[in-house]
Amino acid sequence: MTTIGTRRLDLQAMPAASRHGRLIAIASGKGGVGKTWLAITLSHALARTGQRVLLFDGDLGLANVDIQLGIAPDADIGSVIGGGLAMEAAIFAHSGGFDILAGRSGATALATLSGEALHRLTADLRQLTRRYDAVVMDLGAGLGTPVRHLSSAANLLLVVATDEPTSLTDAYAVLKLDHKDRAPGHGGARIVVNHAANPAAGQRTYSFLARACASFLSYTPGCAGIIRRDEHVKDAIRRQKLLLERHPNCAAATDVEGLARHVAALGST
Ligand SMILES: Nc1ncnc2c1ncn2[C@@H]1O[C@H](COP(=O)(O)OP(=O)(O)O)[C@@H](O)[C@H]1O
Ligand SMILES: [Mg+2]
Repeated sequence: MTTIGTRRLDLQAMPAASRHGRLIAIASGKGGVGKTWLAITLSHALARTGQRVLLFDGDLGLANVDIQLGIAPDADIGSVIGGGLAMEAAIFAHSGGFDILAGRSGATALATLSGEALHRLTADLRQLTRRYDAVVMDLGAGLGTPVRHLSSAANLLLVVATDEPTSLTDAYAVLKLDHKDRAPGHGGARIVVNHAANPAAGQRTYSFLARACASFLSYTPGCAGIIRRDEHVKDAIRRQKLLLERHPNCAAATDVEGLARHVAALGST
């Protein structure tokens, strides 16, 4: 475990972007489909293309970005909410070239934040988009208030699904609620298929979900990317390393880089 805390950022010294960056939420409804790994790897891929990226562990109460990365930050979102620390003071630079605002696992107070606290949190995160090209939020499983609140605050919601029926059902539930919660003209949702056996199978999974949305919600979310199932992902997670450093040319790494290009090419909304 690497303790990070010595490279705390001076955000005041960072130039404010001339326009706001994007707030990107990663959700799925179902747990275990690869949200946290994808949030980390997408942040890394975007950073490698020169974007300024903040990864926020928004799985309030069951945080594990720090575990997957093998880091032990000495401040986190728990120090901000309830601890009185300014959000900027809880951000750390990771050696992968992106910044991290870590979460805190087992904090029930975070998992049950009031509407007012969630409003303050999203306002602070939006404020940070002035300093970053992208603020990537790893959200928790389920469809609780924090997940809905953070999803609908995002300019871009990436809904991660696999071909398992439970994942498809839960991803559809996220898309449906987002469609209901989202203010018209304020960003939108896109589907990311993970654990695809191959690109064609991933495309079929996407089409299945997209057709359900077209039939029952009268809109068709786009496909942001198809990520293949790849044992190198498990190896990187087990070793608490970044996939793009440990296995830069593997299938899943190539696919996440494609996803990062897709995300970067979307206009800021
Ligand atoms: N593309 C992939 N190929 C192989 N295994 C994957 C892939 N994506 C995720 N996984 C596996 O799924 C597990 C759960 O991922 P995680 O990011 O913790 O999911 P979530 O945040 O949705 O609960 C990881 O430990 C990893 O082993
Ligand atoms: Mg997770």
